[in-house]
Order: sequence, then C-alpha cells, then structure tokens
Amino acid sequence: LNAPALAGRHVVVTAGPTHEAIDPVRYLANRSSGRQGFAIAAACAALGARVTLVAGPVALPTPAGVTRVDVESAREMLAATMGALPADVAVMVAAVADWHVEAAAGKLKKGRDGPPQLRLVENPDILASVAAAGPARPRLVVGFAAETDDVIAHARAKLERKGADWIVANDVSGDVMGGANNRVHVVRAGGVESWDEMPKADVAARLAAGIADELG
Ligand code: C5P
Repeated sequence: LNAPALAGRHVVVTAGPTHEAIDPVRYLANRSSGRQGFAIAAACAALGARVTLVAGPVALPTPAGVTRVDVESAREMLAATMGALPADVAVMVAAVADWHVEAAAGKLKKGRDGPPQLRLVENPDILASVAAAGPARPRLVVGFAAETDDVIAHARAKLERKGADWIVANDVSGDVMGGANNRVHVVRAGGVESWDEMPKADVAARLAAGIADELG
C-alpha cells in the first residue's frame, strides 16, 4: 500500500489579500479572492500533507484538514508565516500589499485642511524572507507572479530577485483575479512549463502533484 504523496510533509501556504490600516476604521486592500491559494492548501492536504494556511481577509471556508491562521496586514502575515516554519515547502500565493500606511491612531476627519496625506511605507517581502531563512528555509519555495505582459520574463526576474525555486506566473490580463479559472506558466531555473487555462482547483492539484514529485 502506498502512502499519500505528501504524507509526513509540512506545507505552508499564504493566500488572499492583506489589509493595511489607514486609521481604526479604514484600510487599503486589493482584489485577491484567495481562491487559488485556498485550492492549493486543499490539494496539498488531499495528498496527505500537514498544511498551515496563512490567510488574509477572505470570505472562504477553511479546506478540510488544513490549519488556518488568519491575519490582516502584511506584517502580521510575515510573522505568522515565519512562525509556521520549519516546513518542507512554502507556497506563497498571497497578494501582499506592497505598502502599509503610517496609520493614524484615531479616525481621520474631513476638515478645513483638505484631504489627509497618506504616507506609504514599503512592506516586508514574505516570499523573499522565507527563501532567505537560512537553516529554516523550506526545501522548495514557490512564489506566484501576477503579470499582464512579458509574463515569463518578469517571472524569471522574480525567481532570481526573491530567491524562489519556482515562480508560477499567472497571466492576469483576463478576469483571473476573483475568477474560477487560471492560466499559468511554471518558471524554474531549468525552464518553463506552460499549462492550458483550467479551473483553479485543477491548477492546484497539478501543482501539488509536481511538488510531491520534486520532493521525491
Ligand atoms: O513582487 P510581486 O508582488 O509580484 O511578487 C509576487 C510573489 O511574491 C507572490 O508569491 C507573493 O505572495 C509574494 N510576495 C510576498 N510578500 C510581498 C510581496 C509579494 O510574499 N510583500
């Protein structure tokens, strides 16, 4: 009898957007639904992995057999992700905000001084941090890259810059964000595999199988 392909492995997945507080009642966000990341967490669990899913604010049920850690901001997501290590695999699918706001302690008011000036501060890069985690670095670090043009060239550059092993590049020129389907190119140092457009669950299943293959 064969054990499931990812039995005994720990996989950490980030998913969803982040919310960056402007003041106690407002935030900056993006249109990520979390669907692709949740599907990957589910697919890895279905192959027997122990899965930690670090989720930004999304309206999705927790997949069966997955341990979910809910976070709001990029800085919380970084802390939860690093705190989930050690892991065999990290799949960073979250659409992390590039900036947080120097948030106001109290609610901003309309006033005579005109609209408030928001000061944006660069967020930490969670994927790059995980890939540079030294002895705690997962054996396989996978990032995503949403691109509208030069999809593969941008993904190759991202692979190098962030120290990832694979970048799954999505072509988001259509209605991928929030949609049911995805069309991806899996970019590795050795080459590129382009997959046909398919449901996000199928992308997830195929990626989970590829991860199991890679770990042997
Ligand atoms: O640079 P860009 O945002 O396009 O990179 C996308 C990849 O990097 C995704 O895997 C995303 O989850 C990850 N990322 C991250 N932390 C950030 C920005 C991006 O983990 N602050």
